Amino acid sequence: MPVVILISGTGTNLQTIIDAAARGELPIEIRAVISNRPNAAGLQRARAAGIHTAVIDHTTFTTRSDFDAALRASIDTYQPQLVILAGFMRILTPDFVHHFEGRMLNIHPSLLPKFRGIDTHTRVLAAHERTHGASVHFVGTELDGGPVILQARVPVLEGDTPETLGARVLEREHAIYPQVIRWFAQGRLVLRDGLVYLDGSALTTPLLR
Ligand code: GRF
Repeated sequence: MPVVILISGTGTNLQTIIDAAARGELPIEIRAVISNRPNAAGLQRARAAGIHTAVIDHTTFTTRSDFDAALRASIDTYQPQLVILAGFMRILTPDFVHHFEGRMLNIHPSLLPKFRGIDTHTRVLAAHERTHGASVHFVGTELDGGPVILQARVPVLEGDTPETLGARVLEREHAIYPQVIRWFAQGRLVLRDGLVYLDGSALTTPLLR
């Protein structure tokens, strides 16, 4: 299945996807990695794997919708059946989201619907949560609000800092994202009328791994 991956930063989730695909564990062809930041470290990871890269720098656009239109046009040239957001840190306009509805996934470092938005690890610690985690979801028009597919839980430990907690979450992200991408690429995962179907059955709650 042809896919395009969008990044903004380090790209460890991207690396996990590249590695799983290289091992033959994901039936995907990564047609391009696109970053909104010219110096995103993930671009180097893609180049090292021989994957085509592109930069669409959001700071060069006056409006969010101009940026989204350029991004959408760029993605469309690769004709992906799936768009994978892997640490892509831009809020997307409804037009953009509708265009890719049902074929765009995101990973978010919290147990959605809790802690949408940024700085989740810091906020989880401040709220004295005992459990935290990560969620893979279809992208909807609300920020971090689309239907959740799969989650992983991690404990919040005594003495955790945002960094130690974040590292524990990231490790789990690297397990659940390839799993969901595999389901989608195998045609087992579908979004229909706002509901997530896996192997023909609608999910009533997110799956937990
Ligand atoms: C991850 O925590 C992801 O959940 C969030 O941004 C971070 C990206 O990390 N959306 P990386 O660039 O994949 O290392």
